[in-house]
Amino acid sequence: MASFPTALGLSAEQTEDVVQQAGLAPSLHNSQPWRFRLSEQVIELHSDPRRRLPAADPADRELRLACGAALLNLRLALEHFGVRPVVALLPRLAGPTSLAELRSGGPATQAPEELALYQAIPKRRSNRRPFLENPVPAAHRHALAAAVRREQGSLRTMTRPELGSLEGLMHRAHRMQMADVRFRDELAKWTGRPKGAAEGVPAAAAGPLPEPQDQWVLRDFSGGQARVRVPGKDFESDPLMVVVCSNHDSRLDDLRAGQAMQRMLLTATALGLASSLLSAVVEVEETRDELRQLLGGGLYPQAVVRIGYGSPTPATPRRDLRELLIDD
Ligand SMILES: Cc1cc2nc3c(=O)[nH]c(=O)nc-3n(C[C@H](O)[C@H](O)[C@H](O)COP(=O)(O)O)c2cc1C
Repeated sequence: MASFPTALGLSAEQTEDVVQQAGLAPSLHNSQPWRFRLSEQVIELHSDPRRRLPAADPADRELRLACGAALLNLRLALEHFGVRPVVALLPRLAGPTSLAELRSGGPATQAPEELALYQAIPKRRSNRRPFLENPVPAAHRHALAAAVRREQGSLRTMTRPELGSLEGLMHRAHRMQMADVRFRDELAKWTGRPKGAAEGVPAAAAGPLPEPQDQWVLRDFSGGQARVRVPGKDFESDPLMVVVCSNHDSRLDDLRAGQAMQRMLLTATALGLASSLLSAVVEVEETRDELRQLLGGGLYPQAVVRIGYGSPTPATPRRDLRELLIDD
């Protein structure tokens, strides 16, 4: 097979690693909605419209969050190989799928904290299982908030009284989505995937079957194949639930929020914390708006994340790297 194409002065192996790290980002239903065009001068990040999820994400907001997460991985990987990335978001005059362009801004030395995030990329997982009751220490919570701030976002930690309202909103959003046959069909298509599938959520990573008493993890990602939970293995009673927010609600904000979300998820991974996203409440317009009011009305909620100490969960698959390249 021909060697991997090169970009920004990197070797073929380094360029391949950079694309691989980008492709390890989280995405709704593991849809992996990104593509890359490589040249010596620029790495272009594009959305892949064939991987849209119109029922869950009609405005492509979460698609851009996922691509923002891939962009953060690209930045960390480039720095790892000594290239300081200069990023242009939504470059003008580029085509409709173009989300970002990365060029070399000269040599870079990666700081130890950034190296820890680069090393966390392949270890991060969406963990849908019950977490331990152990609380997340305040220093860790501050580190998560700082990670989001660094990418121009805000992190809101839900207080106990707010958690009650959030739970109600989540259940309402879940019921509304499951009443929509288009949503159910889309979810069925992307979940409970057999071993060997390169996309979608495999049954092994789906977590246990949701049960009527469950407060937070309501979506079944296993296509009904997951095991019924061991009696007594309920979800943690006092979860750390955080919301990644942006100041505005534009396409640019989505890309920034995706980078903020990913920096927070990688920070959590590096601190030994597990995480999972719970998106129904921000996918249904009505409940997203109510969550926004609950948070004070100023910020736009982008991603709701449950964080804690969890048991290991298997990795989800990724597509062949060459399929991610735009080759023209
Ligand atoms: C924007 C976005 C929304 C997501 N929403 C959910 C969700 O509501 N529930 C869930 O269990 N996982 C959710 N996920 C996690 C994806 O299913 C997961 O990233 C994907 O299956 C890849 O697995 P990994 O994160 O373990 O690499 C979401 C991910 C992203 C980026």
